[in-house]
Amino acid sequence: KARTVLLATEKAFAADAVSKIEAVTSAAGYKLARLENYKSKDDLLKAVADADAMIIRSDKVDQAVLDKAAKLKIVVRAGAGYDNIDLKATEGKGVVSMNTPGQNANAVAELVFGMMITSARNNYDGTSGFELVNRSIAFYGFGAVARAVHKLAQGFGMKSFAYDPYIPAEKIAEMGATPVATVAGLFEHQYVSLHVPLTAETKASINKELLMKMPKGGTLINTARCEVVHEADMVEVFKARQDFCYLCDVAPDDKAAKEAMTAAVGDKFGKRLIFTAKKMGAQTLEANDNCGVAAANQIVAFFEKGETRFALKA
Ligand code: 3PG
Repeated sequence: KARTVLLATEKAFAADAVSKIEAVTSAAGYKLARLENYKSKDDLLKAVADADAMIIRSDKVDQAVLDKAAKLKIVVRAGAGYDNIDLKATEGKGVVSMNTPGQNANAVAELVFGMMITSARNNYDGTSGFELVNRSIAFYGFGAVARAVHKLAQGFGMKSFAYDPYIPAEKIAEMGATPVATVAGLFEHQYVSLHVPLTAETKASINKELLMKMPKGGTLINTARCEVVHEADMVEVFKARQDFCYLCDVAPDDKAAKEAMTAAVGDKFGKRLIFTAKKMGAQTLEANDNCGVAAANQIVAFFEKGETRFALKA
């Protein structure tokens, strides 16, 4: 029987990307089953029963999903962050997990600039804003997304700074950014952009102490994960500082947390607090194509050639 690849995307890819994914799977003789825009976990639990492989986005793959996935051999997160996969559970079941690093980096970087300009121009309300040229942006994490933002920042005439515990300072300097020795050192700059994964170490790590250090007009940009920010502290910072801005593509799922931040800032015009309605960083035609096709190719290469280049470890 032909292998079945399940495309399970609560937030659907563009139709063009799905056609391209299907072209890859059908060339390999596999069937593509589609579960897009689904509303309940039960739908996913049903769909997974027949899947040999899964392509997901931020969709959660946990023990409950794995318990129903009798045939599953591989799950590929079409994107970068894989905090939605319970890697201990997949490893426990002998299921290989992968991501597609870098494939959506440019899309996220462009959104960072979209949000920065919207904020700097007072959400186009007719008052005088400011320009980004000569301003400083500091990156917490200097992987593919941060580097793509840095490249655009160079075009805007901005100065880049970066801290990444896994990248040597010389390498950061070679890429044209000034290395910063500590996380706290990043918060001396007007813009701080988060590009770290959600881990035990980064969870709630962006706190009041750091945010209060930021210079006038201090702006935190979060296209990473909402949990990296200490939400209660963020509410306090909004109350304490009238100049502070938070530009966020990863609004808290928790409605109360979101409302608390919105109430604290009292920003009716979307200058100081930007929340996208859904995570939009990777939601471009190009990023959908890049991530989706990479995921499909990785699944075919895994089954046909045993390739595990992007395999993840718990
Ligand atoms: C990622 O980690 O790749 C991004 O957060 C994109 O997530 P999405 O595929 O759910 O939009």
